[in-house]
Amino acid sequence: AFSWNLPDHPKLPKGKTVAVVVLDGWGEANADEYNCIHVAETPVMDSLKNGAPERWRLVKAHGTAVGLPSDDDMGNSEVGHNALGAGRIFAQGAKLVDSALASGKIYDGEGFNYIKECFDKNTLHLIGLLSDGGVHSRLDQVQLLLKGASERGAKRIRVHILTDGRDVLDGSSVGFVETLEDDLSQLREKGIDARVASGGGRMFVTMDRYENDWDVVKRGWDAQVLGEAPYKFQSAVEAVKTLRAEPKANDQYLPPFVIVDESGKAVGPVVDGDAVVTFNFRADRMVMLAKALEYADFDKFDRVRVPKIRYAGMLQYDGELKLPSHYLVSPPEIERTSGEYLVKNGIRTFACSETVKFGHVTFFWNGNRSGYFDETKEEYVEVPSDSGITFNVKPNMKALEIAEKARDAILSGKFDQVRVNLPNGDMVGHTGDIEATVVACKAADKAVKIILDAIEQVGGIYLVTADHGNAEDMVKRNKSGQPLLDKSGGIQILTSHTLQPVPVAIGGPGLHPGVKFRSDIQIPGLANVAATVMNFHGYEAPADYETTLIEVVDN
Ligand code: 3PG
Ligand code: CO
Repeated sequence: AFSWNLPDHPKLPKGKTVAVVVLDGWGEANADEYNCIHVAETPVMDSLKNGAPERWRLVKAHGTAVGLPSDDDMGNSEVGHNALGAGRIFAQGAKLVDSALASGKIYDGEGFNYIKECFDKNTLHLIGLLSDGGVHSRLDQVQLLLKGASERGAKRIRVHILTDGRDVLDGSSVGFVETLEDDLSQLREKGIDARVASGGGRMFVTMDRYENDWDVVKRGWDAQVLGEAPYKFQSAVEAVKTLRAEPKANDQYLPPFVIVDESGKAVGPVVDGDAVVTFNFRADRMVMLAKALEYADFDKFDRVRVPKIRYAGMLQYDGELKLPSHYLVSPPEIERTSGEYLVKNGIRTFACSETVKFGHVTFFWNGNRSGYFDETKEEYVEVPSDSGITFNVKPNMKALEIAEKARDAILSGKFDQVRVNLPNGDMVGHTGDIEATVVACKAADKAVKIILDAIEQVGGIYLVTADHGNAEDMVKRNKSGQPLLDKSGGIQILTSHTLQPVPVAIGGPGLHPGVKFRSDIQIPGLANVAATVMNFHGYEAPADYETTLIEVVDN
């Protein structure tokens, strides 16, 4: 029979304080001027890397190792933290949507049948991130969905686009919009009234996360639902080209716009009777809009007009909140996570990050589940992030504050596991500002020191790792690794994550002296970390977990 009780580890004791530090966007790459981790002063991470070889190693953080469709897929925080927390590899949203589209099952599901009711008399709206980044959404999936919906009776379709430049190169938005417009014009030739209706840059319009700044979602609501925005154009290609021509314009931050007809009237506000699909498969940056679309009681901003719609998410974004209640593809069922096991075995847990990564060490860590497993044993602390800025302006972010909270939690003796995410390498890396990213890496390294010092004081154990690469490579390269140049001879800045492996460093006075990394696991990945952490708490992992990274040799 199933039991939550974990078996005792035969050699490792219980009762040690374990710090788990996730450096967001901190991969391992060749040392050159575009490797901000290399350029930055990072004495703590350097000393771990150059310390005992049996206590520092690399693991895979991208592609199939974290449940993505292929090894050409870079890692990301969702799948990275899912793997770290769940200790197993689950087919992730990107892959599940691919399969559902390929088999056609997406069209047989409850979600599609629910929205289909509107096709005859009303409009189908598709809202989401338009790129081939594969982190939150993928253009080819949107193309298939457009085709599938129109073949199944959708007569009027409006697409509300969010431009990317964060998971893909800045400037690529124009090409993606052109591709979409081509598809839409082909649909129009078949008699389907299909158009882009609104747009905006993902970081300024709609895709905020963890309730950092509701204004972002409001700007999207105004354009998508109300049909109101400061900029009006007659075509989406013209919109994106014109807005990009402004000084310092950037795909991530394009202002909201609506597409209007010749009389200046918005072509696609959402009205009573319409269907809406948010086509991102990843949850964190769609949950806020999902709440605005779905909840009758909603007070985060004035929605002005709340159309009666049939709304479905590409996936269900939050299994605990059951949000949204209708969805096209069932999400991965990430159950029996290490967090749940450990709490049920009495491990008292503290988790902390700042707002923009808070859900990563809680919601994603716990298998896309919000809230506590057991309030009496867990404390999740959110340090408020600055909002309304790009993080290259404040590259230290709240690393110090997070580290101090972790230090206090470690020294308090009230917790067995203290888990943090340090966002700097990732959030500043995404801005593409190399100088700022160097500062960011230094700040993260200092934060690690504060946490490791506290572990030293209490005789604890640490495990320092990362969820995926970002700051270690800030330039787009050709196949042989040479930086690619743009038309004007400048380097092409890489704002996205990478395919690089990430470090795992273990140590601390509480770590049994015989513990070392095993050499018999061929290509370990992030999913091997959970069993390792369970060992540090004195337990063996469940049999179906990916194997531990360590062994204990008697000397
Ligand atoms: C974002 O949402 O900021 C990026 O698309 C992915 O970054 P993350 O996976 O590190 O959150
Ligand atoms: Co990132």
